[in-house]
Amino acid sequence: MVDRINITNTKNKQSIYRELVAQIELLLQKEPDLIANMANVAAALKEAFNFFWIGFYIVRQKELVLGPFQGPLACTRISYRNGVCGKSWEKKETIIVADVNQFPGHISCSAESKSEIVVPGILDGQVRFVLDIDSNRLNEFDKIDADNLRNIVLLIIRHSQV
Ligand code: SME
Repeated sequence: MVDRINITNTKNKQSIYRELVAQIELLLQKEPDLIANMANVAAALKEAFNFFWIGFYIVRQKELVLGPFQGPLACTRISYRNGVCGKSWEKKETIIVADVNQFPGHISCSAESKSEIVVPGILDGQVRFVLDIDSNRLNEFDKIDADNLRNIVLLIIRHSQV
């Protein structure tokens, strides 16, 4: 198995993602457990980008419940439609927030979070989990992150028992 993420070309974000996604695919190939795969994906993203907070919230009945993550302690439960995560669940869409203070209903788990991206993991038309990443810089995330993180979420769904 891959035991650490090795990024050789750190020239730009797209090239980092290209190397990262290939290694994540190898990492997930032999492991069907969803939680194990989420845990390693959070660690891989942390190694590659050192984002402030990276984690998963898993749909459990009417709530999102905190799953594997890297970073400071976080809120454990988020209701449907609440916060950026609950909105992404409701809309079944990726949401990019350039400035969390401008997002109505944003749930602040840390005063250090400045911008955020949430990508839903969808199987059979239902959101099963969301990938949430917070940055301590404003305006951190763009379409490159959205496209690559969506691919990473698709890999998790393809390789895991969701
Ligand atoms: N900001 C999120 C809550 C989760 S934390 O960022 C880890 C939201 O508004 O849903």
